Amino acid sequence: MLSKVFDMKKQIKTVFNKKNKRKITCLTSYSYNFTKIIDGLVDVILVGDSMGMVLYGMDNTRQITDDIMINHAKAVKKGAKESLVFFDLPFFKKFDETEVIRRVKHILKKTGCDGVKIEGNSEISSVIYKLKKAGVPVMAHLGLQPQKFSSSKKFKIYGRNNKEIEKILNDSLVLEKSGAVAILLEGLLTNISKKITSQLSVPTIGIGASEFCDGQILVSEDMLGLFNEYHPKFVKKYSTLSKNIQNAVKNYVREVNSLKFPNKKFRYD
Ligand code: KIV
Repeated sequence: MLSKVFDMKKQIKTVFNKKNKRKITCLTSYSYNFTKIIDGLVDVILVGDSMGMVLYGMDNTRQITDDIMINHAKAVKKGAKESLVFFDLPFFKKFDETEVIRRVKHILKKTGCDGVKIEGNSEISSVIYKLKKAGVPVMAHLGLQPQKFSSSKKFKIYGRNNKEIEKILNDSLVLEKSGAVAILLEGLLTNISKKITSQLSVPTIGIGASEFCDGQILVSEDMLGLFNEYHPKFVKKYSTLSKNIQNAVKNYVREVNSLKFPNKKFRYD
């Protein structure tokens, strides 16, 4: 039985070696039950700090602490028998290499996740290098980095000026060289993400960065129509679950009020 579980588990190498063969599919999850629903359907499940906004109603992702991340990542990891689980390294005010590495290792130890995603540009290259040496797979996050914003209303698309373009093209190469297993590109103009994807040998995972990336990620609540406060252009809604939930709740309330539920079928006599 145990060996069957091991067989089903996706491997870092197999998933991230799919570049130029098949797309890499990723979604977010913050809970055990939701993870069980999507486990194995996607390659990677990200315990994103987007939970700050989606789950906790915060204005940004910065208030997610390491302890909050540990609680959610533990639950997700428990529910994921097949998909890889990566966690987002929560916000750091001031970059301190030793501290970042210590925090990553601490969260990994507490949760058993398969890897970490870190928002940052070339300044995180030596962190990636050291974590790689320690056997920790790192997904770097370039382009729009939500932790840099105090509110999602201020989010902006990247790649609109030459300085930005030159920097991101260079940073992606630096982060690949330092050992990142993949580079997540968020909110980036199409021709830039296309260029980065073709210049790298590691895969790019896009969110609002076009179909030319090697893989895609969305926040699950966005694509399922469960979170409707903020709807960027890049989100395709594959369902309208909030409507389904409202209909179910309306039916429940109607049946309780009309004494249709509970009835003989649902009681202990
Ligand atoms: O926190 C998150 O969910 C993310 C995705 C939007 C990529 O970083």
